[in-house]
Amino acid sequence: MKRPCLLPFAVLYLAALTASSQDYRPRYHFTPPQNWINDPNGLVYHDGQYHLFYQHNPFANQWGHMSWGHAVSTDLLRWEHLPVAIPEFTEGDKTTAIFSGSAVIDAGNRRGLCPPGTKNCFVAVYTGNVTQGDRHLAQYQNLAFSADGGRTFTQYAKNPIVDIGSKEFRDPNVFWYEPEQKWVMATVKAIEHRAAFYESADLKTWRFLSHFGPTGDTTKVWECPALVRVPIQNESGRSSGNQSRWVLFISAGHPQPGYVGMQYFVGDFDGTTFRLAPENPKPIAPAVTNVVDWGKDYYAAIQFNHLPASQPNPIMVGWTNNWAYAGSLPTTPFKGAMSLPRQISLKRTAEGLVLVQQPIAGVESLREGSGGNGPFRITLSNKSQSFENQPDNTYELTLDIVPGTAKEAGVRIAKGKNQETVLRYADGKLQLDRRRSGNVGFHKTFPSVEEAPVTPQNGVIRLRIFVDKSIVEVFANDGERVITNQIFPGEAAGGIELFAEGGTAEFRNVTVWPMKNAMK
Ligand code: FRU
Repeated sequence: MKRPCLLPFAVLYLAALTASSQDYRPRYHFTPPQNWINDPNGLVYHDGQYHLFYQHNPFANQWGHMSWGHAVSTDLLRWEHLPVAIPEFTEGDKTTAIFSGSAVIDAGNRRGLCPPGTKNCFVAVYTGNVTQGDRHLAQYQNLAFSADGGRTFTQYAKNPIVDIGSKEFRDPNVFWYEPEQKWVMATVKAIEHRAAFYESADLKTWRFLSHFGPTGDTTKVWECPALVRVPIQNESGRSSGNQSRWVLFISAGHPQPGYVGMQYFVGDFDGTTFRLAPENPKPIAPAVTNVVDWGKDYYAAIQFNHLPASQPNPIMVGWTNNWAYAGSLPTTPFKGAMSLPRQISLKRTAEGLVLVQQPIAGVESLREGSGGNGPFRITLSNKSQSFENQPDNTYELTLDIVPGTAKEAGVRIAKGKNQETVLRYADGKLQLDRRRSGNVGFHKTFPSVEEAPVTPQNGVIRLRIFVDKSIVEVFANDGERVITNQIFPGEAAGGIELFAEGGTAEFRNVTVWPMKNAMK
């Protein structure tokens, strides 16, 4: 008997598998064409383009062979993928992986790193992570330069530029320090929980300035520092610039043990030392430092260098993932995504100078149609009301909640049979509950409830919720609190439902905008 040919079925099956896992691919958050990514690196604006480099394994959908992947954009939202910019390299039996770092532009190639005649020299400063077989030998700071606008890089012949003989010394964050016309580099001594600052006039020779830490959350290694001058809302004119503070971001800090996240410190940097300012917000609880994002999935964020005048506030991008389960994400052929670019500021509140993060204004250009569905207003007493179905799970939802007498009020999103992701306000806290958000079983640390303290302002909690397949970013009270989480809902789980329990709550300005696919 002739055996049936199984090939077409196998192909169909594989196609179906790929299609369903592809379906977790965000449409307006950055993802690589394929394979693994983690931290954003070398964020810089140059000649009309924003550059996003990122930790990347060019060969597999898991961490390894770290190199800098590369993409460019004119609006920070629609990205063009480019070839790997800085690949891992081998000399003799030693391999140098290109760990995280930053990029600056040496205008006019004045420091002469690039060949003579180069208009602007693109300079990347990264951590060389050196191994020999299975042995980990060193971490030090290296430099590479590009004369073709960041497309290809040459390793600096006199690397390393900063070496302290450590294996846990990484993630150089370099920026131009205007008052003293010099470059400053923030790095971390990861297991000592210390940031170390350096200065340089030529990017080649660096001088140690000072340390900051240990302080704050020291239960996790410190990674990816970012030292950024941040304007204070309603007090700053860009020209005077005196109403600002320096904010030191450290990747390490989450209210829940075992999960990495980010903490921030508000202070002053005088070109040599970073000191906490009196208005550094008091910790909400003894074990909780100033949390950047109360979700599980925002890490390693750094700022863009050399932003154009049209962007008066610093802009940061983070990796929407958590090392606790990053390697197990159920996505193929890629793993990892970036947050929406966030514009940051400080706001004077009773707590002190609080970090405010908002999606860049351009995000509104991704809204499909003029007004989406809404605005819609409803009062609910002890009941739920299905509001819409967005089976694509790619939308922005805005709503204001007046919690009233309700014990709990909120919205269920990505709702389907036996699954939902719940955003609820109860007892002065905003919770994002992904315990039943679909595919949660791929790692035991994934199902979780996040909780951020949120105070209604004039009785209202304002919410902007971005849902993008497997990413949920919640901006509460105009960005005073942010919760970012991944979810992996099933195919038909696109329901949106408002609810009030234990009393009456009102929902105002409820609007859903389907979002455009920015990846086309
Ligand atoms: C942070 C980090 C960095 C390091 C890079 C390696 O996520 O661990 O400290 O440079 O990732 O990929």
